[in-house]
Amino acid sequence: EVASYLHRTSFHFQPEKNWMNDPNGPMYYKGYYHFFYQYNPNGAVWGDIVWGHAVSTDLIHWLYLDIALVPDQWYDAYGVWSGSVTLREDGVPIIIYTGASNAGEQTQNVAYPGDPSDPLLRRWVKDQENPILRSPPGINIKDFRDPTTAWKDVDGNWLMTVGAKKQKTGLALLYKSVDLKHWELQENVLHSVESTGMWECVDFFPVAVQGHHGLETYTAAPTVKYVLKASLDDTRHDHYALGSYNVMSKTFHPDDPTRDTGIGLRYDYGKFYASKSFFDPAQQRRILWGWVNESDSEVADIAKGWSSVQAIPRTVFYDDKTKNNLIQVPVEEVKELRGARVSERDVKLVPGGLVQVKGASGGQLDIEVVFDYPNITKLSLDGGQMDDGDHFDCSQGGAAHRGVFGPFGLLVLADENFQERTAVFFYVSYSKEGKWRTRFCSDQTRSSLLPDVDTTVYGSFVEVLPSEDFLSLRVLVDRSIVESFVQGGRMVITSRVYPTMATDQAAHLYLFNNATTSINVRNIDAWQMHSVPMHAI
Ligand code: FRU
Repeated sequence: EVASYLHRTSFHFQPEKNWMNDPNGPMYYKGYYHFFYQYNPNGAVWGDIVWGHAVSTDLIHWLYLDIALVPDQWYDAYGVWSGSVTLREDGVPIIIYTGASNAGEQTQNVAYPGDPSDPLLRRWVKDQENPILRSPPGINIKDFRDPTTAWKDVDGNWLMTVGAKKQKTGLALLYKSVDLKHWELQENVLHSVESTGMWECVDFFPVAVQGHHGLETYTAAPTVKYVLKASLDDTRHDHYALGSYNVMSKTFHPDDPTRDTGIGLRYDYGKFYASKSFFDPAQQRRILWGWVNESDSEVADIAKGWSSVQAIPRTVFYDDKTKNNLIQVPVEEVKELRGARVSERDVKLVPGGLVQVKGASGGQLDIEVVFDYPNITKLSLDGGQMDDGDHFDCSQGGAAHRGVFGPFGLLVLADENFQERTAVFFYVSYSKEGKWRTRFCSDQTRSSLLPDVDTTVYGSFVEVLPSEDFLSLRVLVDRSIVESFVQGGRMVITSRVYPTMATDQAAHLYLFNNATTSINVRNIDAWQMHSVPMHAI
């Protein structure tokens, strides 16, 4: 039996108890960040879904409010499902959400603040004329959900999309409205991609090509790029594409068709789903929320009385260096929680080396580390030393694999006898095409002595530019979650782990190098993170 508090996070958003899934309707209103979420008030498994509600002034400290929307109509009797907030021209936020009926029908519905002068927006009123949208011909009543934030068309009308599928094609249906209530299906879809299945929680937003500031959802300048994200019900991953938005045809076009929505980039190569972004006018940035579910069993969730956390909100912007992906970094505010710090410079990791970062103990850390990029010019590429990167996919041997230039990285949440440890690491290799490539992996295989947890190894490639002679990594560790932001946030992996020994002061941090060449650590800084009290009113 593992105590229920052992894996509860200390600075991530979690309800006081029970099940949570998607982030819904995030916004900034009258001085408060509002966060709604798919919530089961009756248990630690999915069901009886309502909109939970919390507010914050810094995205870190949260105040739980009363449930905002409950199933009390025929059209949402089976659940008040995901949706978004749109700020009306008069500044009043409205919610458009998916209602699921007991017959399984998915419809779109609108709700208004009971009192827009209340900065906490505690009361919500559903429109008498709901549902405002039912699935159009050709779309199954069970494949029609998760409306986006609406944006303004060039002719002044509102546009929004609703995720759907037709056979195996995932698509974003396009609707037009003058009043955000009466919606008209458009002939064209915003976008669709074959064989990607149902598109859940579509998100569509502009990013600036120059600068890291965020843009209003309504911005439609020719100089901006657009992001189209879909959560694929089939793969359970959030996939995005960068592209352009043609304001005349009202269609999205990926920059690179081989990296279209659902077949190319992911926000996160670990666990991160049903994400949703919003524009924060207070700090002029775009913030991304994402749901991180558990890797333990349902039985364990019921025993601990809760399931799922939200990832630390991330600031997202266009990577103006690679020009083909987004950058995601934890919101600045998380640094408020940094306490005692340890720093080391120029740590040499010999082949097989393992070095403890002394003083960096505890299950709650914020870590920044920079490695020198391995000295690949010194490698003689005669067969024996050449590493066939094509055959290493992070899961073969995981961190225990030995290559010429990897794995090297960190062991987090490790007990002093290494019975438990989670390895986050780089692996640099030379491919058949004659190119150096860098992988980043998160290996959970030895993260817990508990038998009933999913320990899948995660990993993918990360682009390193010729001008970059380093590999950087920022890791947030919070008891049962490990979030790794690689090369400035170009690639991200989130994992869930359930240490039973490597907890609190028995959790340590190590640098390791399993490569057959030495690796130099330029610098490492690790901060112990304070816990955040969450309050209910
Ligand atoms: C995504 C999702 C949405 C749906 C909601 C129901 O996780 O399945 O498509 O609206 O969760 O809770």
